[in-house]
Amino acid sequence: PRVLVLAGGLSHERDVSLRSGRRVAEALRDAGVEVEERDVDAGLLPLLAGHRPDCVVPLLHGETGEDGALREVLELVGVPYLGARPDACRVAFDKPVAKAIAARAGLLTPASVALPHETFRELGAAAVMDALVAALGLPLIVKPTRGGSALGCSVVRSAEALAQGMVDAFAYGTTALVERFIEGDEVAVAVVDTGDGPRALPPVQIEPDGGVYDYTARYTAGSTEFVVPAKLSDAVAAEVARVAVTAHEALGLRDLSRSDLIVDADGRVWFLEVNVAPGLTETSTVPLSVQAAGLDLGTLVADLVTLAID
Ligand code: DAL
Ligand code: MG
Repeated sequence: PRVLVLAGGLSHERDVSLRSGRRVAEALRDAGVEVEERDVDAGLLPLLAGHRPDCVVPLLHGETGEDGALREVLELVGVPYLGARPDACRVAFDKPVAKAIAARAGLLTPASVALPHETFRELGAAAVMDALVAALGLPLIVKPTRGGSALGCSVVRSAEALAQGMVDAFAYGTTALVERFIEGDEVAVAVVDTGDGPRALPPVQIEPDGGVYDYTARYTAGSTEFVVPAKLSDAVAAEVARVAVTAHEALGLRDLSRSDLIVDADGRVWFLEVNVAPGLTETSTVPLSVQAAGLDLGTLVADLVTLAID
């Protein structure tokens, strides 16, 4: 098949996406697939019309990529693509909505409040801070509701630090998610479905050298230690797999996703979010999971492409 990898775009995660795109295009080429790699810009429709790919691998991260917008265009022009449908992406990309659906599916997810910037302004910062700390306690983590790669995220350990955390989150979107911060091990679980139902790949435990898995820790080689498979008891390993597969199914995802979880000191597994176009860069966790499962990234993506075309 002729595969078109779409990456880049104009979201805050443009650079990350270009790296994911390059990596996947190379892996597909190594697997013998004819592949072209293009940046997404205003020339997208003429590109699709001229190129007529058999399948698109959409690797845009963040807004317009993971929120389903690009996939709406692919639906419109009738080109098969890898991954979840636009409606499922829209829901999964919105963290409070995804958390609500995960909770309804019986998963544990930290208590949180989604706060639009307007409310913050109308009620005043001081009143909002007091109410949030009273309702959720400390520590908290503040994030943009629709974002990625930890941009605009901060862990807040004192009431005084909350205002700055909110400001940082609002820099990346109009609504902030203020969530109880659960201390524990950060574990990422990839889920793939090559035709016989979704299954979890080996979990990756994330241990950033600086303690915080921020943008720099994510994309600077050597700044984070990854333990694959994660050091978990058999029971907890089974539970992280179950949680990731449950989230994938509850949100109606397809092909590939990655759930980000916390395992607390009591071995409880908390769902934080799911990524519909997870990072596939040299420092991302999904390629590590693929490798630990004894799979080849290019062959796996090629298999998913074959299924998407059929
Ligand atoms: N948002 C980045 C790409 C990730 O989840 O890997
Ligand atoms: Mg994410």
